[in-house]
Amino acid sequence: DTIGSTNITWHECPVDKLARQELLQQKGCVIWITGLSGSGRSTLACALSRGLHSRGKLTYILNGDNVRHGLNSDLSFTAKDREENNRRIGEMVKLFADAGIICIASLISPYRKDRTTCRALLPKGAFIEVFMDVPLQICEARDPKGLYKLARAGKIKGFTGIDDPYEPPLDCEIVLQQKGRDCSSPHELAEKVILYLEERGYLE
Ligand code: PPS
Repeated sequence: DTIGSTNITWHECPVDKLARQELLQQKGCVIWITGLSGSGRSTLACALSRGLHSRGKLTYILNGDNVRHGLNSDLSFTAKDREENNRRIGEMVKLFADAGIICIASLISPYRKDRTTCRALLPKGAFIEVFMDVPLQICEARDPKGLYKLARAGKIKGFTGIDDPYEPPLDCEIVLQQKGRDCSSPHELAEKVILYLEERGYLE
């Protein structure tokens, strides 16, 4: 039986990652934003993209919800399908980073092991995990799409944080807290991430 790809070879081109990075004046990397629905992942992704773009840096956002409209439209929200959603987005961000682009992945990515798997696809240091540390209570109060309400009413089964687990990172690069008095604007949060990139030479 032949399952999967066999008899395949890898091709190299002299216009390589280094050449692309030189052209773009930046280093390809992944900013992987994880957190509950309503935690502000998409808002941060957008603020980050805007902030970097205005500094002349090329970014691209891969948003779980959006990718599920196309490439991942065959996937549901079972544990197995979430894993596959994460895996495919992991493979995509790997390509974007190799292209020299600062790729911003914004998906719940609720399972720790799936995020670890994606991290392992990237060169050391190039996978920057950002945790939107917002309590469920706040996300639920925001409920921008009315999904928590539906989940509480039992109209959506297996909703993250309600009847499906969210495993917060134990050791990620950046934690952005939004609780109590610690309430920064999306712009301020984005600047924290941009500073992180600057300090590590990703913007040169
Ligand atoms: S995952 O878990 O990483 O595969 O999820 P992701 O691809 O980011 O998709 C999350 C968005 O899908 C909508 N949605 C659900 N979320 C969680 N659980 C269930 N059961 C579910 N069903 C639909 C929801 O709009 C999520 O968007 P955000 O932006 O997080 O609110």
